[in-house]
Amino acid sequence: MITAERRRKILHSGKPKTLWEGEPFLGSTYGEDEIAAAVAAMRDSSDVSKGFGFSAPPIPDFEQAFAKYVGTKYAVAINSAGPGLDMAMRYLNLQPGDEVIVPAINFVAAPLAVLGAGGQVVWGEVDSRTLELDPSDVEKRITPRTRAVFPVHMNGLSAPMDEFLELAQRHPHGKYGPLAVVGDGARACGGGYRDGKIGKKGLLNVFSFHTMKNMTTLGEGGMVTTDNPDVDAFCRATRFYGASLDIWGTSNVMTKVQAAVGLVQLKQLDSFIARRRRLARLRSELLSDIPELTLPFEPEGCEHSYYLYTCLTAPNWAGEKRDTIMTMMDEAYGVRCVIANKPVYTYRKILRDHTPGQSLPRSELLGDRLFCVPIHPAMSDEDNEYICASLIECIETLR
Ligand SMILES: Cc1ncc(COP(=O)(O)O)c(C=O)c1O
Repeated sequence: MITAERRRKILHSGKPKTLWEGEPFLGSTYGEDEIAAAVAAMRDSSDVSKGFGFSAPPIPDFEQAFAKYVGTKYAVAINSAGPGLDMAMRYLNLQPGDEVIVPAINFVAAPLAVLGAGGQVVWGEVDSRTLELDPSDVEKRITPRTRAVFPVHMNGLSAPMDEFLELAQRHPHGKYGPLAVVGDGARACGGGYRDGKIGKKGLLNVFSFHTMKNMTTLGEGGMVTTDNPDVDAFCRATRFYGASLDIWGTSNVMTKVQAAVGLVQLKQLDSFIARRRRLARLRSELLSDIPELTLPFEPEGCEHSYYLYTCLTAPNWAGEKRDTIMTMMDEAYGVRCVIANKPVYTYRKILRDHTPGQSLPRSELLGDRLFCVPIHPAMSDEDNEYICASLIECIETLR
């Protein structure tokens, strides 16, 4: 908690120098090591006989380092997470009417990947405490047409992968056997699950190295992790015109300059996450006595990477009042929060039209209650305290 006197003092001392966005535009930190790695890779490429190459070193080195970090046999570097999610759905060879269960509280990428591969999106409710796809709700939605469960490791926390894998075994598809479990880890690089890292459980997982993410390869990039040699071969082929398997493909390659920087970022990833976790712990202590807020929940066996620090307002503060908190935080204190995310069908018509008649009341209420308060590995304790003080002040004003 913060006493009223301390809060006044903090807020009087002025706004932080950094304008903290709810989802800062650079999610990691960049320094001389990243710059040196990029320059060295560029110098190496200025040799006419080498150029930027095809899957040239250090791309395989980055893949191996990432696979080792996550604990999988394979990792395939790609240009962005979105194409990795597309690859996952294409690998399943979905037939018209084949269903894939995805959380309603989601970014657009995973459901669009189902659509793009010709499947049918079935929305699932999320757990009210974790905001992760809820296994007990998923079980109710499984039909003979279900092919896959497609959880998102939402906002940096692992989805309950073991529960989904157990469900997948218990409800096999008549033709294809156990359901595929595919994880969207775009926001969860470096998080932990059951003594390992996120990315190890399931058929495959996809990570993003977009500029906002826990680590970035010059603003774009991604990785697919898997223990399955067929998935590895499929993704490698698909990322370069399907060449080695003579299948459909396009170009989704990562450049060697990105991979060189990725190796440097990967070495620092655990320290980025440790800093995010420390700020989150201090913040949760400071906000612990505000009854209008429910703070992020970390289930046992999970290590939240706190890509986003997601709060829920009390149900009677949902919607307009939640929006007013966000506006006040921005206008009065220069702190921007973000809503990540409402149920996707409420903000993307293409997905609403694709899923007529589906509505998820629990997720819709959660979508009106949630907001993410800025967090970043380079945030100082003072800025963290200022953000908490401003949030408490807004809530007290609105009470
Ligand atoms: C949950 C989720 N999935 C997928 C993506 C897509 O990642 P990328 O921008 O690397 O394609 C994002 C990016 O914001 C995301 O947040």
